[in-house]
Amino acid sequence: MNTLTKLALGMMGQLRPKPPEGDPATSITLPPAVQQGGLPLLDALAKRHSSREFAREPLPMAVLSNLLWTAYGMNRPDGGRTAPSALNAQEIDVFVALPSGAYRYDATAHQLHLVAASDLRSITGYQDFVDEAPLDLVYVADHARMGMVPVAQRESYASVAAGAIAQNVYLFAASSGLATVIRAWIDRAAISDALGLSHDQQVLLSQTVGYPKQISGAGE
Ligand SMILES: Cc1cc2nc3c(=O)[nH]c(=O)nc-3n(C[C@H](O)[C@H](O)[C@H](O)COP(=O)(O)O)c2cc1C
Repeated sequence: MNTLTKLALGMMGQLRPKPPEGDPATSITLPPAVQQGGLPLLDALAKRHSSREFAREPLPMAVLSNLLWTAYGMNRPDGGRTAPSALNAQEIDVFVALPSGAYRYDATAHQLHLVAASDLRSITGYQDFVDEAPLDLVYVADHARMGMVPVAQRESYASVAAGAIAQNVYLFAASSGLATVIRAWIDRAAISDALGLSHDQQVLLSQTVGYPKQISGAGE
């Protein structure tokens, strides 16, 4: 769907999910994530950039597992995560829009839990590439977990935490030959409806990830 159509549908509150590809599993146990190796940090930083052209090729489960662990996985026995949060509130949930359904990433169990048995990729943003890329992440703040944070600071602190997760994904992408872009140009109400979020949950940002689109004729 092109951007103008999405904008028009969004203004009418008519941006709707597509049926899923295949039968969505209620939960998916991810393979153990590889927690070492990859490009040296400075090499990954030298390659970090935003991309807006994606191949349709799905991400293998092992890549998805490594990506989610890098993004916001548990990296210490005390429950610490790969991204910081104010007062360790861990208020961000990472939602994972795949062709087969939308899931919430459970870092403790390193599992995905189904939240919507539909293909929500196309409503995670106004830009057309979000429909075809194999993965759109959505970063959602749960204000109910930020009881210790002053109300006036909650949105900005949560946005900082989501930004740290997004940069983890950028560095993973740079290290793994993937393409990615963080996105704020999104229809938060449509995403919130589609994910069935509560009043406490606030959609902050979305991020597309996939393999870079091959340029026609490359390698011939
Ligand atoms: C908060 C934030 C929101 C952004 N929103 C969008 C967006 O909606 N769509 C998009 O294509 N890029 C978006 N970007 C990506 C920026 O356009 C991109 O980072 C910038 O052009 C610099 O390019 P680089 O990431 O390759 O260095 C966003 C970046 C940030 C930090």
